Amino acid sequence: MAKFLFITDLDNTLVGDDEALAELNQALHQHREDHGTILVYSTGRSPVLYQELRQEKEMLDPDFTVLAVGTLIYSQNSEEPDPEWVEFLSPGWSREEVVAIAAHFADLVPQPPSEQTAFKASYFLEETVAPQLLPQLESALQKNGLDVQVIYSSGQDLDILPRRGNKGAAVQFLQKRLEMSPDRTVVCGDSGNDIAMFQPGVNRGVVVGNAKPELREWHEASNSADFYLAKAHCAGGILEGLRHFGFLQP
Ligand code: GLC
Ligand code: MG
Repeated sequence: MAKFLFITDLDNTLVGDDEALAELNQALHQHREDHGTILVYSTGRSPVLYQELRQEKEMLDPDFTVLAVGTLIYSQNSEEPDPEWVEFLSPGWSREEVVAIAAHFADLVPQPPSEQTAFKASYFLEETVAPQLLPQLESALQKNGLDVQVIYSSGQDLDILPRRGNKGAAVQFLQKRLEMSPDRTVVCGDSGNDIAMFQPGVNRGVVVGNAKPELREWHEASNSADFYLAKAHCAGGILEGLRHFGFLQP
């Protein structure tokens, strides 16, 4: 057994089955004590909603938190987001211009103010409308010279982010900083904004058994032995996947 870099989404991945979460917490806590394993939470939530979840659930203190879909990175002892990452995301990003273009689409309903963060503009979008609207939105953003990415998750959440920032880019940033190899790095997720974390050859990945269709379909198409689709849900699926890859003992 040796140290690994563990990066997990929160809603419906780490969190969702309290009993399995308690078991996973125990295993990860022990692994961190014994081997120095590094824990990272990576969520779409803003700092406000992340703190709410921390109040609601029994969770270990992570070594890093990646919030707002990979656009804010915090190390455990810092209240300020990593300045290097902020600097990396800034070129060419104009939140005002993004919001002005999105305002032309009546079906995009802005999410609450807490979820509108420096490098993320977020909306609710109904699943039935999404297939027609998404390409139109992307082309409007592009026509206006905005180099951004649009990420749709769980049939309801739409995030517009700088091109350079998402959960996957944040994983690579931490992996490089911590000098962790692909076979000692594992990501876990359940929905659309997690897809960017699953990078063949760069890390191992666990798709929990309750994953949304967009991630399942992506996983099926990727056809890579670096990724594992668990049978169990949420933290139970993570445990199953960590054992599958030999990060934890069976
Ligand atoms: C979280 C965030 C929300 C985002 C969604 C998908 O629910 O609070 O702003 O749209 O994740 O990334
Ligand atoms: Mg999730």
